[in-house]
Amino acid sequence: MIRKPIFAANWKMNKGPSETEDFVNSFLSKTQGLSLTAEIVIAPPFVSLPKLADLLHNSNAQSIQIAAQNCSQFDSGAYTGEVSVLMLREFFVHYVILGHSERRSIFGETDQVINAKIRKAREANLKPIFCIGETLAEREAGKLQSVLKTQVTDGLKDVSEKDLADIVIAYEPVWAIGTGVTATTEQAQEAHAFVRSLVAELYGSEPANKIRIQYGGSVKPNNAAELMACPDIDGALIGGASLEPQSFLEIITNGTQTE
Ligand code: PGA
Repeated sequence: MIRKPIFAANWKMNKGPSETEDFVNSFLSKTQGLSLTAEIVIAPPFVSLPKLADLLHNSNAQSIQIAAQNCSQFDSGAYTGEVSVLMLREFFVHYVILGHSERRSIFGETDQVINAKIRKAREANLKPIFCIGETLAEREAGKLQSVLKTQVTDGLKDVSEKDLADIVIAYEPVWAIGTGVTATTEQAQEAHAFVRSLVAELYGSEPANKIRIQYGGSVKPNNAAELMACPDIDGALIGGASLEPQSFLEIITNGTQTE
């Protein structure tokens, strides 16, 4: 079973349109002539989506997919500050990051809200990058598996097998995000295999073998190869190290050498 690795840059609240332009110009010039086999995704803040879409449309370089960092679970109406899935589609957005731990912990998103967003995204044919992961306290209390099980089961509630095929899961241990602490390859592989087994319980083994599970949490050029060599790790969701074109590219190239 070949799963195409997927490397996604999660810029969080960094890079407005002009910095987006600088990044893309530099990244495209660095990738010229390289034949990258992985899928590459960039998730800028909402306000930079039009610029990113323009830049990519006007370049005939490597195909890069565009992601949003969030979407509303509603269609339209009186939801101040929200952005709908159809609005995102206008900017050629293909992916949407949902359930990121910062959305869960800072903005109070529950598994139920995340599930509603996943289903809304699929209605508009957006592909969710569905984030899950435990806190350090949960891991230390021996709750890793129960936390992941609840997140996966509730997050995917009423999601059809057909829709699952267009979902990417990102396992991101909260204690590894932005901390410089990465899960060991053993910890990461163990969690990924467990998540895949959860998907198998819900949907059967074929969809579970097909679904891509990214690792996230302090992925850097110097740890990408080791992590990506794990059998159940199919790419990375990268925050800090994706802000520099060179380090994002090195993560992709180092992380795909093992393929
Ligand atoms: P990090 O962030 O790479 O800076 O740890 C990852 C993420 O939050 O997706």
